Amino acid sequence: MSNHTGSIDVVRARAETRGCESIVHLNHAGSSLMPAPVADALIGWQREEEFRGGYETVDRYRDRLENFYDATARLLNCGRDEVAFVENATRAWDMAFYALDLGPGDRILTTESEYGSNMIAYLHRAKRTGCEVAIVPNDAVGQIDVNALDRMVDGRTKLISISHVPTGGGLVNPAAAVGAVARRHGVPYLLDACQSAGQIPLDVREIGCDFLSATGRKYLRGPRGTGFLFVRADWIERLDPPLLDQHAAELVNEREYSVRGDARRFENWECHFAGKAALGVAIDYALGWGLEAIRERVQTVAQSLRDKLAAIDGVEVLDDGVEKCGIVTFRKKDEDPQEIKRRLKTHGIHVSVAGDSGARVGYDRRGISSAVRASVHYITVEQEIDRLVEMIRA
Ligand SMILES: Cc1ncc(COP(=O)(O)O)c(C=O)c1O
Repeated sequence: MSNHTGSIDVVRARAETRGCESIVHLNHAGSSLMPAPVADALIGWQREEEFRGGYETVDRYRDRLENFYDATARLLNCGRDEVAFVENATRAWDMAFYALDLGPGDRILTTESEYGSNMIAYLHRAKRTGCEVAIVPNDAVGQIDVNALDRMVDGRTKLISISHVPTGGGLVNPAAAVGAVARRHGVPYLLDACQSAGQIPLDVREIGCDFLSATGRKYLRGPRGTGFLFVRADWIERLDPPLLDQHAAELVNEREYSVRGDARRFENWECHFAGKAALGVAIDYALGWGLEAIRERVQTVAQSLRDKLAAIDGVEVLDDGVEKCGIVTFRKKDEDPQEIKRRLKTHGIHVSVAGDSGARVGYDRRGISSAVRASVHYITVEQEIDRLVEMIRA
């Protein structure tokens, strides 16, 4: 693998990432390293608040907040009015999911690789409303079996909801093929793009999803405490948000309120303003490299890591799927993933451990409880991968 794949100038990208100087960060699926322009936008906003006051900073730099909507619309190929700023991917996802009308016998179809919090929400609503959740089996390569999904949709199906990229593996689920099934049957489609946003191009029209949620801090390289929700225009007024405040709605008189007509009906009035401005910068920064170029670079780097790990005796690489992404998961015979993480940390190499609630369904079905997750980005270079591989071989 060369350090100059495709059109990404890795030398410049690393020079613009101050954190690269001191650590080997292979935890971009946890929380990436902010590029300097993003960190500067975040800290700069907070300095303004320190000296100018929070409300006055908003008045002065409103255009930077509004840029978040334009940048997200460019990222997703949607309208700016179809975007809501939310504090994380889970809450963004919740605001759409809990707004959907589900009753006794209604069915939600999801995948084996579904994110833990989403599974909890399905079970939560099943308990409250009597709706049901059914898991579509994987196909032979470990992605959602789209033919099985097609056969499982019936008159009771009220939602198709999947994680594009699961938290615990390199799999990329075939989001557009799932969208084609949803469209054919006229079933709403919710896509959790938390791990894919920033490493894979996302075009909501091509994918055919009605709702999409994502976070800022992972592959988009934005600040923590930021995320967003896309809701397709013709759904916005049909969804009654589970929570409303006087930003999402207006109190008309002592008996009535009116809810906004755009996706901001899913937002809070008080929010992480510095993060919102900086997330807009992060999205523009990613678009500056180009999502196709990022995908190509990330996939090349990740595959190089997989190949090197797989060549080590006693190491099993776990990633499934036809298309794989920047998340590399593996296990090593006779060494616990947590112990591996600790050992790497003492050498300045950051990885995380996937498992527990987050990846429960998929891991249970596989008969494992956890795995080491090394997640690369376009700033990752061969020398960093080699350091990790050497430590795993040791
Ligand atoms: C697939 C997936 N969905 C949702 C989330 C939740 O994101 P957040 O922590 O921003 O709520 C995660 C976090 O790891 C994830 O991996």
